[in-house]
Amino acid sequence: MVYVKTVSDTVMDGRALQLLNNLRQEQAINQAIADADPLDVDASLRLLPLLNERKEIAAIGELLEEAVTRAQKQHEGGFIHSSAAIRDICMFAASLMCYGIEPNERVPEFSQTLLDYSIITQSHIPRDSFIDYTSRNPAGNRERHFTTRSEEGVFIDSLRRGMAALDASLQELVHACQYSFAQQDFADHCSAAAHNFQIMIDAIVQVKRGITTEVFTHYIRPFFEPFMVEGRAYSAPSGAEMSILNIDLIIWGSDCYDDLYTPYVQANIIRLPTVYQEICRLFVGKKSLITMLQDIATSGRQLCKDERNSVRALHSLLTKMYSFRMPHYKVAEDNVKLRLKETGGEVKGSSGFGIDEVKYVLDQTMKKRQLLAQILAEDAIQAS
Ligand code: HEM
Repeated sequence: MVYVKTVSDTVMDGRALQLLNNLRQEQAINQAIADADPLDVDASLRLLPLLNERKEIAAIGELLEEAVTRAQKQHEGGFIHSSAAIRDICMFAASLMCYGIEPNERVPEFSQTLLDYSIITQSHIPRDSFIDYTSRNPAGNRERHFTTRSEEGVFIDSLRRGMAALDASLQELVHACQYSFAQQDFADHCSAAAHNFQIMIDAIVQVKRGITTEVFTHYIRPFFEPFMVEGRAYSAPSGAEMSILNIDLIIWGSDCYDDLYTPYVQANIIRLPTVYQEICRLFVGKKSLITMLQDIATSGRQLCKDERNSVRALHSLLTKMYSFRMPHYKVAEDNVKLRLKETGGEVKGSSGFGIDEVKYVLDQTMKKRQLLAQILAEDAIQAS
């Protein structure tokens, strides 16, 4: 693979600039998908929570069949249309799966329909992903829900806000990387990235306050199980598919080859829209920000004023990430513990990964933050 520089001397790299523009357009794309109802299922999706509450499995099967039949009759439709159709078909499919019924066994054309749509959207997986349930889920009375629980609305809202915050944070970080640590612009953009990350902390606080472990585990989590598409199981949407993957990668992951990390990133990044995969390719294999700062620190020279500001700004971004990840780990762990107690055996997250990966990224965040604190402390000693 060919990679551009992570921190260039002065000018905005052309490719990075183009990706930044593409990233800015994602919001409008998501909104267009949220607005679309290509299979005319707004009304039946409004019924879905009640049908799930009453376990009216036959009726849900009929709604899935109806949606797939409509999809098969339509011969047109580009990216927006197909993305919205995948989102909606998968709401019915995941509901059936919650009762142990493989959607393809109930509606034989199900697999082919999803495969056809995934070709149009150029997705690596023929099913919905996290962005469909969050940023591409229409707000207001068209919002797609599995349950009648008000907590699911809190869940979607916090995740949707989190997704937007991560995008805003990522944009600033990519922008920061166009400057060297010795330029004030790096610190400015990195501080803006930290500022934008705050919503993720607010989101997890909102979830902790508004959703008990029992409600999440018993009512919401059961709708996030893998289902088969043409003989292969595809895992359900999960938080592991957020653009925090890109943020980690830029800060410490682009030159990290830990056994746990690489497969985790590879499996999840392909479930994000293309622009995130391209941003990942732009950085992967290059020195991460942390490695570059370690190089400066081990060179024995003192940091200049702007470099010190840059380290402080990156430290403050890692502090925000830690302030999200610590309570989030607790929320995820409580969910896993409850499921273990109730079901026994091995418990996986909806992505197919477990709590180990959530703990790993939390540990990495703490270690890198500690490392930056140490660089700043040693520099202060040198200066005195
Ligand atoms: C009831 C609330 C929640 C529970 C039980 C929960 C549980 C989990 C679990 C088990 C994972 C592991 C991956 C997987 O799902 O397979 C995970 C990952 C993740 N979740 Fe959540 N989650 C919750 C809420 C949230 C919220 C509100 C956000 C953000 C606004 C979020 C963001 C993430 C992220 C970013 C990851 C990837 C790990 C990381 O980068 O730290 N989650 N979550």
